[in-house]
Amino acid sequence: ESSDATKLKNLYNEAAKLFHHILVNTVMGEDAMQYLLKRGLTAEMITEFNLGFAPDKQLLLPFLQEKKADQDLLHRSGLFIETTEGKLRERFRNRIIFPIRDAQERTVAFSGRLLEKNSNLPKYLNSPETAIFNKRKLLFNFDKAKGEIRQKKFAILFEGFMDVLAAYRSGIKNGVASMGTSLTNEQVYLLERATQKLYICYDGDVPGQTATARALSLLDPVTKMTLGVIRMPEALDPDEYVQKYGTDAFKEIAQNTHETALAFYLHYYEQGRNLDNEDDQLAYLADVLKQLAQVISPVEQDIYLNQLAKRFGLEKSSLLSQLNEFIRKTG
Ligand code: UTP
Ligand code: MN
Ligand code: MN
Ligand code: MN
Ligand code: MN
Repeated sequence: ESSDATKLKNLYNEAAKLFHHILVNTVMGEDAMQYLLKRGLTAEMITEFNLGFAPDKQLLLPFLQEKKADQDLLHRSGLFIETTEGKLRERFRNRIIFPIRDAQERTVAFSGRLLEKNSNLPKYLNSPETAIFNKRKLLFNFDKAKGEIRQKKFAILFEGFMDVLAAYRSGIKNGVASMGTSLTNEQVYLLERATQKLYICYDGDVPGQTATARALSLLDPVTKMTLGVIRMPEALDPDEYVQKYGTDAFKEIAQNTHETALAFYLHYYEQGRNLDNEDDQLAYLADVLKQLAQVISPVEQDIYLNQLAKRFGLEKSSLLSQLNEFIRKTG
């Protein structure tokens, strides 16, 4: 690692300390603290994850300058934005700070969340790409979760910070987040080095479910990992699920209610369709059989063909012949 990268990481670690101090020990952090406690976090977890608060004040710059941080490094850090006069201004203002760490537990970036809805500003603001931060290559919480992933022999993939934290307080500590719905190949490599099994637990809303289908289709042809889905009901995200049903209920489904990719698709293709309607039913069956055509195990195919035949009151033989047609087409 270059000394420049080390210096940048030191800078982020100093900044993280300041933001944490502000959140936990100062009046400036009180509203943010209340907000986090109201969302179910505990003081212990706030410390464990080193969460912080960046107030709408110029504090970080003098703090780092006092620590003799190199001016040029400050410019390149992504912690500030340059005004037209070339002055530095704090990038994160009035935001709860989630430190993003690399696998070596070094803080390399921040994501800052607004306390209140503001349609003019992004809910989460991230550090820009820097010499030490490539968002594509990082999973939030991989540093803390990696030991637990190896021990439990599976990982759970979430979309967001608060989902990882909600899982954590439910006793599920092998969770990481892709920080959005676009899982990258680089994030997949990271997971593959740690485990053979991955369960996707994205948000239950339409974007989350669409992203689950996308992640499965990205992963399935290339990964050695066994894939599964933990599906959130009622369009809830995992954090909302914990708020609504409690930590025990979440722990139970996260540990015991994994669907196969195919079982996920059976639900997924129902979205926006009325299966009492014949056209919708045909379109649904075509989508499902196309997925089933990708499945190598004839036993698994047979199980789902039986299910579909029973559910729609169809002859299994006609489903099978359509399945075989799809298999021929996809080679
Ligand atoms: P969501 O929109 O599902 O937000 O985005 P969330 O995680 O449920 O946030 P809360 O519960 O309202 O606090 C999922 C993830 O996508 C990234 C964040 O990592 C977020 O946790 N994201 C989302 C951004 O980077 N920027 C955004 O503006 C929104
Ligand atoms: Mn500059
Ligand atoms: Mn979402
Ligand atoms: Mn969400
Ligand atoms: Mn949420």
